[in-house]
Amino acid sequence: MKEKHITWHCSAITKSLRQKQNEHKSAVLWFTGLSGSGKSTIANAVQAMLFKRGIQAYLLDGDNLRHGINGNLSFSQEDRKENIRRTAEMAKLFSDAGFVVLASLISPYKADRKMARELMDEGEFIEIYIDCPVEECEKRDPKGLYKKVRNGEIKGFTGIDDPYEKPEKPEIILHTGKHSLEECVQSVMKYLDDVYELKTFKEE
Ligand code: ADX
Repeated sequence: MKEKHITWHCSAITKSLRQKQNEHKSAVLWFTGLSGSGKSTIANAVQAMLFKRGIQAYLLDGDNLRHGINGNLSFSQEDRKENIRRTAEMAKLFSDAGFVVLASLISPYKADRKMARELMDEGEFIEIYIDCPVEECEKRDPKGLYKKVRNGEIKGFTGIDDPYEKPEKPEIILHTGKHSLEECVQSVMKYLDDVYELKTFKEE
């Protein structure tokens, strides 16, 4: 429930002043896909590339957030929704601070990703679908979780006995089963440079 008696305070340092100082736009790169598909690996590598180029970038990793701010959430549909809502609100703050935010979460429901998109300023939300067959994710099983699912230790695991709704029109699709990490990072960087025009922005 929202409280009524609260007022919005405007900051003297605006988003556009921060962007001007940074010499680049803000953006929210939202990585979605199955566990083990490569979201965090790619997001980390893109973050490193942006950092190297002097761009303000910060990674919000689903697994890590569940150790802290989202530590009280389960994997029920309702809690996953709250997980996305909180992360999207954090991403919005970082974008307001002039950052390129990289959010890496399974985010299995279309409606939740839509909510995240709509929260951001026009055009700032870039959905990146990490497309990898569940069989391949299970073969990789970097955290040994698929094995636990098969042993009956985990229930309601995305892609096995819990849904994953594929994005219909993501800005970028990366096939991690077919392309190398370097190729995936290059695709994202190319999109940021050529389509998003990260370094070009209107001054207010
Ligand atoms: S989300 O669905 O709410 O977006 P999030 O990205 O935060 O998920 O966390 C997913 C990570 O939690 C997975 O990469 C995996 O390591 C772990 N995990 C543990 N249980 C589950 C589960 N039931 N379904 C999916 N991931 C799980």
